[in-house]
Amino acid sequence: MESLMFSFALSILLLSSFTLSFDSSTDQNALVSFKNSIISHPYAFNWSQNTSVCDWIGVSCGLKHHRVTALNLSGFGLAGTIAPHLGNLTFLRYLDISSNSFTGSLPSELSKLRRLKVMNAGINSFTGEIPPWLGSLPQLEALNLYSNQLSGSIPHAIFNVSSIREIEIGNNSLSGMLPSDMCNNTPNIKILSLEQNQIGGEIPSNIWKCTHLEMLSLSYNNFSGNIPREIGRLAFLSNMSLGYNNGFGGINISSSF
Ligand SMILES: *[C@@H]1O[C@H](CO)[C@@H](O)[C@H](O)[C@H]1NC(C)=O
Ligand SMILES: *[C@@H]1O[C@H](CO)[C@@H](O)[C@H](O)[C@H]1NC(C)=O
Ligand SMILES: *[C@@H]1O[C@H](CO)[C@@H](O)[C@H](O)[C@H]1NC(C)=O
Ligand SMILES: *[C@@H]1O[C@H](CO)[C@@H](O)[C@H](O)[C@H]1NC(C)=O
Ligand SMILES: *[C@@H]1O[C@H](CO)[C@@H](O)[C@H](O)[C@H]1NC(C)=O
Ligand SMILES: *[C@@H]1O[C@H](CO)[C@@H](O)[C@H](O)[C@H]1NC(C)=O
Ligand SMILES: *[C@@H]1O[C@H](CO)[C@@H](O)[C@H](O)[C@H]1NC(C)=O
Ligand SMILES: *[C@@H]1O[C@H](CO)[C@@H](O)[C@H](O)[C@H]1NC(C)=O
Ligand SMILES: *[C@@H]1O[C@H](CO)[C@@H](O)[C@H](O)[C@H]1NC(C)=O
Repeated sequence: MESLMFSFALSILLLSSFTLSFDSSTDQNALVSFKNSIISHPYAFNWSQNTSVCDWIGVSCGLKHHRVTALNLSGFGLAGTIAPHLGNLTFLRYLDISSNSFTGSLPSELSKLRRLKVMNAGINSFTGEIPPWLGSLPQLEALNLYSNQLSGSIPHAIFNVSSIREIEIGNNSLSGMLPSDMCNNTPNIKILSLEQNQIGGEIPSNIWKCTHLEMLSLSYNNFSGNIPREIGRLAFLSNMSLGYNNGFGGINISSSF
């Protein structure tokens, strides 16, 4: 009986360590595939497969489970595309690939990153539209796609992420209009930065529902019509730029702001 118990316990132990190593090898496979689709990396990548991924430069892991929780490769001088395998890093909370020379699109497999809070892909050369699946990441707090070559309109779904605090998508080629219900589901947003695009139409009057808004940057776009009076209800708004648009009327900017 005792030996039965022992072998039972042993098999549980083996099973769980097998699961653990299987999961970390998923992370290693994902990062190796990611690295293989990088065509140029001027700095040394010490991503040697005989060391733990947790010791690789730019990679951080959770203390308990040793799964990859953060990838910070900002300013590494990387060029290439993003491998879909990155979506297998299911424990990832923080992704910063900003200030590199990545091209192509953000693969839809990244929608599997259900724990992601920060997505920073700013200052690269990504093309295509802003992927609508970003709006299905349930914990997303910061989205930075600043200074890429993204076109099309801002997907409505982005304004459905109630955890979102920052949207920075300036200096792209975005067009279309802001959805009229854009602040209904994003009460926590503090930074909305859309400057240097071709976004047009009116500023939605329900902008006052973004009650925590601190920074609103809409300059160098194609906005027109009235500036909604409701903007005056935003108690935390301290930094707003509306210049260089298609003509605003109805309000005396110099006396109100
Ligand atoms: C790990 O692999 C590298 C080559 O990728 C080799 O140079 C190094 O000696 C290996 N280290 C160990 C501890 O096996
Ligand atoms: C890789 O480089 C980083 C930063 O220099 C260092 O902290 C880490 O220990 C290195 N890892 C390996 C496996 O050499
Ligand atoms: C990511 O890396 C950049 C550059 O090395 C650094 O400035 C930044 O603080 C890092 N972010 C985090 C969250 O560690
Ligand atoms: C990881 O992702 C790729 C591409 O999205 C997929 O083909 C692969 O089967 C995934 N799973 C593992 C365990 O690597
Ligand atoms: C805007 O993006 C272009 C490339 O798309 C870049 O050359 C330029 O420096 C960026 N401007 C700012 C102010 O970041
Ligand atoms: C936003 O969320 C609501 C409720 O969860 C859903 O019914 C709606 O389809 C979503 N809209 C978009 C554009 O994703
Ligand atoms: C700017 O908006 C006007 C209408 O107000 C429209 O006719 C024009 O095509 C827009 N320009 C761009 C570049 O979207
Ligand atoms: C407003 O935001 C812009 C862009 O981030 C920044 O350069 C500027 O210093 C800010 N102004 C104030 C008064 O905080
Ligand atoms: C706008 O406000 C400024 C400062 O209060 C005032 O001098 C100016 O006459 C106003 N302009 C109009 C068109 O009301």
